[in-house]
Amino acid sequence: MKTVLLVSALIAGVIGSMSAIPVSYNAFCNSLWLFEMPCAKISATLIKQIEAFSPANGCDKCHYELVSTLPVLINANHTSPDGLQAENITFVLSPGTMGSGCHVSAQSLSQNFTSFAKDGVNYCNLYDLLTASNLTSSAGFTEMTNPWACPGFGLATCKS
Ligand SMILES: *[C@@H]1O[C@H](CO)[C@@H](O)[C@H](O)[C@H]1NC(C)=O
Ligand SMILES: *[C@@H]1O[C@H](CO)[C@@H](O)[C@H](O)[C@H]1NC(C)=O
Ligand SMILES: *[C@@H]1O[C@H](CO)[C@@H](O)[C@H](O)[C@H]1NC(C)=O
Ligand SMILES: *[C@@H]1O[C@H](CO)[C@@H](O)[C@H](O)[C@H]1NC(C)=O
Repeated sequence: MKTVLLVSALIAGVIGSMSAIPVSYNAFCNSLWLFEMPCAKISATLIKQIEAFSPANGCDKCHYELVSTLPVLINANHTSPDGLQAENITFVLSPGTMGSGCHVSAQSLSQNFTSFAKDGVNYCNLYDLLTASNLTSSAGFTEMTNPWACPGFGLATCKS
C-alpha cells in the first residue's frame, strides 16, 4: 500500500515538474522530497541554508542567492565558481496528503544551454543544500527522482 502511494506520488511529481521544463534543452534536475516536518519548518530551513551559502560568506559552496520567497515557493539561483554558468533553483512546498508533513518539488535548471547531463551540477545544487542543512536526516525524509527527471543524477560527483 505504502509503495503504491509512493509510486503514484512519484509519477504525479515527475509529471508535475515535467510541465515546467521549457522547450529548449537547458540541463535540469527535478526531484521530489518528502518530510514529516511541516512545510513552514522546511521552508525556513531551506531559506536559512541558501542565505548561509551566499557569496558574501565566501565559503566553498557559497554560490547561492535568494531571489524571492513566498510561503509555498522559494526561488534562488546558483552561479558556478568560475562565474560562467548559472542555474535557477525553485522549491514548491505543499502539505502531505494526510494534512501533515511536507512535499517539496525541487528543481534546478541551467540558465544557458549546457551539455545535457554534464557533471550533475543541477542535482548537486539541490543535494548540497539538503545535506548542509541536515534535512537529509530529518524524520521521514525520502527523495524520489530518476534519470528522466534528473539526467545528471547518476553522474553527480557530490554524492558520497
Ligand atoms: C541571482 O539572483 C540575484 C538576486 O535576485 C541577482 O542579483 C543575480 O543577478 C542572480 N544571478 C544570476 C546569475 O542569475
Ligand atoms: C546566457 O545566454 C544569454 C543570451 O543567450 C547571454 O546573454 C548570457 O550572457 C549567457 N549567460 C551565461 C552565464 O553564459
Ligand atoms: C531564470 O530566472 C530569471 C530570473 O528569475 C529569469 O529571467 C530567467 O528566464 C530564468 N531562466 C530560465 C532558463 O528559466
Ligand atoms: C548539521 O549537523 C552537523 C553535525 O551534527 C552540525 O555540525 C551542523 O552544524 C548541522 N548544520 C545545521 C545547518 O544545522
